[in-house]
Amino acid sequence: MTLLVVGASGYLGGEVCRQAVAAGERVVGTYHSGRVEVPGVETCRLDVTDRAAVRELVARVRPEAVVGTPYRYGEWAVTADGAAHVAYAAVEAGARLVHVSSDAVHAGRPEPYADDEPPSPVFAYGAAKAAAETAVRAIDSGAALVRTSLIVGDERSKQIRLCLDALAGRAALFTDEIRCPVDVTDLAAAVLELVGTDYAGPLNVAGPDAVSRAELGLLVAAHTGIDPAGMKTTTGAAAGMLRPAEGRLDSTRAAGLLRTRLRGVRELLTR
Ligand SMILES: NC(=O)c1ccc[n+]([C@@H]2O[C@H](COP(=O)([O-])OP(=O)(O)OC[C@H]3O[C@@H](n4cnc5c(N)ncnc54)[C@H](OP(=O)(O)O)[C@@H]3O)[C@@H](O)[C@H]2O)c1
Repeated sequence: MTLLVVGASGYLGGEVCRQAVAAGERVVGTYHSGRVEVPGVETCRLDVTDRAAVRELVARVRPEAVVGTPYRYGEWAVTADGAAHVAYAAVEAGARLVHVSSDAVHAGRPEPYADDEPPSPVFAYGAAKAAAETAVRAIDSGAALVRTSLIVGDERSKQIRLCLDALAGRAALFTDEIRCPVDVTDLAAAVLELVGTDYAGPLNVAGPDAVSRAELGLLVAAHTGIDPAGMKTTTGAAAGMLRPAEGRLDSTRAAGLLRTRLRGVRELLTR
């Protein structure tokens, strides 16, 4: 199979490439301002805001499947329009599309969100990810939309780096921002499994443990042996946080559908 990973220079995109190459697939991966670190990937530069360029690349590569991961915080043209361009080109090529979305599409509440709940975004990034979902579904009703949460793993994870910064006193972690972190290897494996299915529509793919950012920081401290005494915390209210405070994804459907086990962050970050 030829797999096109749009955003292969990113954290999740890179891991999707690594696993697909290891599985013997032909993998073409795109970068924009970064670079693709995975051996065995055919790389090319792509700006997803350029609709003609996206169409030209997909027509040239002729992938059987496309995984769409790109986003840029604060850049609607990348996060929303870019996702639409990728979906349009995938349909033109007759390729299976797995689009990566986010828990940020939801307004936030104490109860977990089910897979099929419509977006209710309350801030700009969430609105761009919600718009991306709507565009992708309108263009390709067969596409899978993977709604995920904080992507953790090694120090290339921006979420782990934020925890390390807070432990060093350079940043603060919210005690009231709740998410369901997922390991990048589990998420990439789930995305690749979905490539091989005809699952259509939103699917929550996140870990089973809901933790606050501050709890995540403590887990990182225990895992790395860093003294948590210097960890800085704050609350969303005090910091004027615009993001939803509580965003839990119920990933029961994905757990039943996929062979990949989505590990909780307490298991991942054991000492
Ligand atoms: N990280 C999280 O905790 C988290 C949580 C929930 C959902 N998600 C979703 O998961 C997906 C992957 O996240 P990630 O953390 O792995 O992202 P990431 O590491 O920040 O990578 C983003 C990717 O988007 C690419 N990109 C940016 N602007 C582009 C443009 N104009 N044209 C083409 N590509 C462009 C980047 O390319 P260059 O680097 O080469 O410029 C990079 O490959 C995203 O869709 C995100 O919304 C992430």
